[in-house]
This record gives sequence, structure tokens and C-alpha cells, in this order.
Amino acid sequence: MSKSKEQWASRLGLVLAMAGNAVGLGNFLRFPAQAAKNGGGAFLIPYLVALVVMGLPLIWVEWAMGRYGGQKGHHSAPGCFQSHGRSGFWKYFGIFGLWTNLVIAAYYLYIESWTMTYAGYSIIGGFKQTKPEEFFAWMTGEVPNQMLAFSGFGMLIFGVCIAINIFILSRGLAKGIELVSKIGMPLLIVFAGLLAVRGFFISPQNDPVAIESPMVGFNFVWEPKFEKLTDPAVWLAAAGQIFFTLSIGMGTVHCYASYLREKDDITLNGATAAWTNELCEIVLGGSILIPIAVAYMGLDKVQAATAGGSGFGLGFMIFPTLFNNWGWLAPIAGFMWFGLLFFAAITSSLAMGQPVMAFLQSEYGISRERSAVLFGAMLLPLALPVALLHSASFFDEFDFWAGTFALVVFAMGEAILFAWVFGMKRGWEEINKGAELKVPGIFYYIIKYVTPAFLLVILLAATFKPAAGWDTYIKSAFGSGTAPAWEWAGDSLVGRLLHKDIPIPTGENVDLAKVEFTKKLQLTRDICRLVMVALFVAFGFVIKNAWDNRKREGRA
Ligand code: ALA
Repeated sequence: MSKSKEQWASRLGLVLAMAGNAVGLGNFLRFPAQAAKNGGGAFLIPYLVALVVMGLPLIWVEWAMGRYGGQKGHHSAPGCFQSHGRSGFWKYFGIFGLWTNLVIAAYYLYIESWTMTYAGYSIIGGFKQTKPEEFFAWMTGEVPNQMLAFSGFGMLIFGVCIAINIFILSRGLAKGIELVSKIGMPLLIVFAGLLAVRGFFISPQNDPVAIESPMVGFNFVWEPKFEKLTDPAVWLAAAGQIFFTLSIGMGTVHCYASYLREKDDITLNGATAAWTNELCEIVLGGSILIPIAVAYMGLDKVQAATAGGSGFGLGFMIFPTLFNNWGWLAPIAGFMWFGLLFFAAITSSLAMGQPVMAFLQSEYGISRERSAVLFGAMLLPLALPVALLHSASFFDEFDFWAGTFALVVFAMGEAILFAWVFGMKRGWEEINKGAELKVPGIFYYIIKYVTPAFLLVILLAATFKPAAGWDTYIKSAFGSGTAPAWEWAGDSLVGRLLHKDIPIPTGENVDLAKVEFTKKLQLTRDICRLVMVALFVAFGFVIKNAWDNRKREGRA
């Protein structure tokens, strides 16, 4: 209600917390898998272009909007957005900055709890006897073609993981998030560095199990393949990865930046946090999963294992077995791998909790401790179906709508608000206030024109995507080949709505269990969508109520 007295204790803490927000599972699992799926070196050029025209500009925009909103007493997206535009619409657009975090946290924390379980099981040498896929099935209770998934132990650790997050959040910025980032980030970098160095020294000459040099994996990730640059799918994937990895379009950066003082630097701090993320992603993330897996499995098998683009299969099902080739080091290597994933995850999940808490604190005057508990209470009804139903239902659905689509919508809205409603001239002054790093003038135009245009293209391409790929239609328009009849792609917005990604199996020898399961899957996904819409609308009412209160109390 009044201006928050919370502040970051130190500049180092702020940068580490922001970097911790960005560095997450995306860096160590998603990035290498996306790179492998999209042709290795072909991926890096679109990735770096997306970093320059979208990543960095939006980082500065989000830091600037957050710091500006914080000066007006707002610490979450609804208030930050409202302070940049006159129309009452903008506070409602800020719903995304609360909704997205709550929905992503529901499944992100579940994965975080897996990393805890795996780290513990690794250090006691469990994977010397147990196959990781059997362990995974035991931990999640997931059975193929069955909707219900229950594991008492898995639920317990999930609960513990949520409780740890709530406890840390309840301690506040400096004693909670900042402290965990100061411990977790250096440890994560040390663990990742040690694993990368050990992996680098695998050699088929000295290690009888290795079939390739890890250099084959490095070459695959780094060698540019220019011919792939004309494939729109690679560009889309690269842009999606930049969003996810930098935590752009979520409202977390606004929230953290809102605790800055008016003249605190944002350009150098923002760039430092972003570059730390890139170091953890390209250098460390690119040096562990793929090179080690290629050395022991060969390139073809690694590409097959990462075909889905998530890296979960490789990271959780295959990696623990590969470490067994490292003799006495195996339990420690496994512990370091899952430990680093845990630190990467928790510093990101804390950032997802803070905006919801900050909203309750700054708009309703609720205490920090009670806000943390309320965040947990809101999370529970979403977290339960994630853990108790097959991962292809609520888990995947949350990831698609909140973890992928909503980020782009949010970013598109904020780019328009900042550059065109608030005004680029004022926006540029805001970015450069107290700046210790002079942002090159070209970014003025990138933020104003290129970023929104790029976002619009991505949004349209993700919404209306044909199953055969746009390139087929473009080529046929220019007389080369004939394009098939239009069919929505399963991962397009429309295709997903129509369940094109999970069609009910048909044919003579159809597996009836699979047919039944797919029907249930479609139904639970529809229910999941209703839940998400209801949550979105509920946030709308809460925001309306908060602003009505402000008006009544003369604070509007
Ligand atoms: N940016 C976070 C990650 O990479 C969400 O996992």
C-alpha cells in the first residue's frame, strides 16, 4: 500500500539474483536439446540474432519499467504497466505477469523436486544398481496409457520443495532470494565447470566405453551450417529459447528491478545478468549434456534422444548411467549434475513466487510472511494435477500456454506500451537514467521498430502454423513443388486448441488402450484450459478490486 521498504542488500546480490532468475533448467537441459534438435551449429546464428534484437532490448525495457513502477510503489506487472499508460486496460494486461508465474511455477517446482530426489539418490550410489528410467517411473508414479500417476514419495518431496521455496520467499529479498542466489549461483558454476572439464577429457583411447571424442559433440554444437538459416522453424525455436532462458515476458524482471532506487544503474547491471546467463547457457550448458552424451552414445543416438527438444530424457533417464563410466567419481558427478540443476531451478522458481507476493504486499498491504503462504495456497490446486495426472495433460498444457505462448504475448504488449504508449523518447531517458554502460543509439530504433516487428512475426507464425511447414507453401508459391492441403501444426496455437498434437488413433490394428487414453487426455487438457481461463479471470477481479480500493482511499 505504501512504498515498499524492501531493497537489495548489495549490487552483487541484485545481479546474482537477476542472473539466477534467468539461469535455470532452460540453460542446461533445454538449450543443448534445442541446439541438437535444430541442427547444432545452425541454431547459434538465429539464437544470437534473437539475443540482440529481442533479448537484450527487452531486458533493458523490463528493468526500466520495473524501476519506474517501483518508484510509484508498484512491484508487480499490473501496477508497473498501469504507471506507464493512461488507459485502465494496462493493469489488466499485467494479469499475465502474475498468472504466467503461478502456472509455470506449478510444473517448474515439480521438476525442481525431481532434481532434489535425483541428487540424493546419486550421492548414495543408487544409479549403480537402479536404471534411471525405473527410478523415474517410481518417483513420478507414471504408467504409460494411464491418466492417474501417484507416488507417495514423489508427492512428499514435491511438498518439501514447495515448502522450501515458501520459506525462502517469506524471509524477504535480502535474507531470502539474495542469500540463496549468492550461494547457489557460484556453486552451480563450479559444479558445471568441473563436469565440463571432466567431460572434456573423455577419450576413446583411455576410456574403453567411450565411442567418440567429446569434440564431436562440441563440433556439432558450434560448427555453423549456413544452409539451415532459411528454415523458419529454426528461427522460431531460437527466439523461443531466448525468451525462456532470459525469463523475458514473465514479469519477474520487472518485479526484481522495482526494488531499485530511481538513479540505480540498469544498463550495466541488466547486461551483466544477461551475459552471465549466456555464459551459463552457451559455454557451460553447451559443454556438458551434448559432448558427454555424444562421447558415450554417438551423435545419432543423442539426436534421437533430444528429438522432443526438452533434454529431460537425456538429463534424467540417460545421464546417470553415463556417469557410471567415471568409476569412484560417478556418485559425486551425479550429485553435482542434479545439484547444479537444483540451484539453477530454485533461483528461477523463487523469481516466479516474488511477483505474486509483491502484488499482495504492495496492492493489499498483506505482510510478507502471509503473502508467501498465500502464494503457496494458490499454487497447490495447480501443482496437484501436475503431479497426479499423466505429464502429457496438465504439465504439458501449462508449459505450452504459460511457458511458451504467454511469454510472447506479454513481451509484445510491453514492447508496445513502452515504445509507443509511454513513448520511446521518455523510455530511452528512463533506460539511460543513472546508466553506467552507454547503450548504443541503434537500440533506440531496435526497441521502437525491430523488437515489436520481430515479436509480431513470431506471434503470427506460432499461431497460424501449417503442419507441412511454411517453407513448403512459400516454395510452392514460387513454383517449386506442390504444397499439401492446409493442416494445422500440432504445436501451433490453433492446432493445439484442436488437439492436433494428440489425435485419437485410428486404423485396423489400433491399440484400444491408447484410444481410451487419448480421449481422456483430450478431456483433461480441456479441463486444464478452463482452469487457466478461470484463474486469469479471477486475477482480473482481484486487480479490479485492488484498484477500486486505491480509488476509495485516494491513492489511484
Ligand atoms: N529462465 C529460466 C530457465 O531458463 C526459467 O529455466
